Amino acid sequence: MANKDPLRIGLLFSQTGVTSRIGQSQLQGSLLGIEEVNEAGGVDGREVQPVVYDTQSDPRRYAALAEKLIVEDRVNTIFGCYMSSSRKAVIPIIERWNKLLFYPTLYEGFEFSNNLVYTGAAPNQNSVQLAEYMTANFGARAYLIGSDYIYPWESNRIMKELIQQRPHSELLGERYVKLDASEADFQPILEDIKAKQPDFIFSTVVGDSTASLYQAYANAGFDPQRMPIASLTTSEAEISQMQQGAAAGHFTAAPYFQSIRSDVNQRCLERFRRRFGHGVMPNLCWEAAYFQIHLFANAFRQAGSDEINLLLPHLLGSEFHAPQGKVRIDASNHHTCLFPRVGRVDAQGQFAIMREATRPVHPDPYLVTHSLGDWTVKLPNQIKAPAEGG
Ligand code: ACM
Repeated sequence: MANKDPLRIGLLFSQTGVTSRIGQSQLQGSLLGIEEVNEAGGVDGREVQPVVYDTQSDPRRYAALAEKLIVEDRVNTIFGCYMSSSRKAVIPIIERWNKLLFYPTLYEGFEFSNNLVYTGAAPNQNSVQLAEYMTANFGARAYLIGSDYIYPWESNRIMKELIQQRPHSELLGERYVKLDASEADFQPILEDIKAKQPDFIFSTVVGDSTASLYQAYANAGFDPQRMPIASLTTSEAEISQMQQGAAAGHFTAAPYFQSIRSDVNQRCLERFRRRFGHGVMPNLCWEAAYFQIHLFANAFRQAGSDEINLLLPHLLGSEFHAPQGKVRIDASNHHTCLFPRVGRVDAQGQFAIMREATRPVHPDPYLVTHSLGDWTVKLPNQIKAPAEGG
């Protein structure tokens, strides 16, 4: 007789700690996906049942709870992680037990594991577009600020290589702060920025201290029209922790913004708000957490199993009409074809989309190709920037 027991999957997101705002959104994006799968009859008549643990923004807890999910809860598939340090902590566990991790977060690239599927942006799907946009519109004299761990170090290394392609590029500073940095921790950096007057700031600050950075920047009187912050990690979730208007005028590159006007996105947001209310701000990592559940469920229906060797052939190359557009898992590197966009924060904390890809950009996690070529169409929002003589 066919197995009709619930199918358990593991969800590892931080509901407490410095990255809990984005972690909670990833958890709720996953739960929305699971509810939709279950409302459609589950997978092969089996209800998908999440086993949820709070990883408390601590990589050691990620590793311990990944092992608990596998050994005690007997799950074959885990969905989770935000900070790259947490993903790096989980990989040895997932590989040792030959299980599968879906990772719904932008990251620094230069990684492959047969036991991972990466549904967030690789650097050729966000860093390249941000570097191209900022240097074309503001100039190539940059100042880099990041949280002190692997993702910001590596993402800054890539950003430095990208801006060097521009004439008159200059690195005016590269500073790191602790993960729970307060506004006071940013003061000496802001004084340095005031003295050096870069064309733009590249921020790889993550989690709660993102609000401290933007708040301190606004309080210091810096003008985003002239010297904006550009980021890959400042999403609607982090902006919701700031005072109204604190991020207005700054930029983020991401495959997904809440403001995408497509029917698929608008309907998804409506379903989410009906079910979960307005407490959590949908963002790029929420969307990846949502659509990867559907990619998994569709592959399971074809494989009839969540055993990695049976599931992967159906998962790799598979597609889903996600809120950002039709995404596809690249079979050769387990990353996802995505739609890069550049957004500028408006007064309400939403993103006005300045540029967007007209077709999916293939993941190139090793940045084999990293020229700052044209990848988008110009949209009516396109600003007249100082570098263009404004
Ligand atoms: C990150 O640590 N990948 C945001």
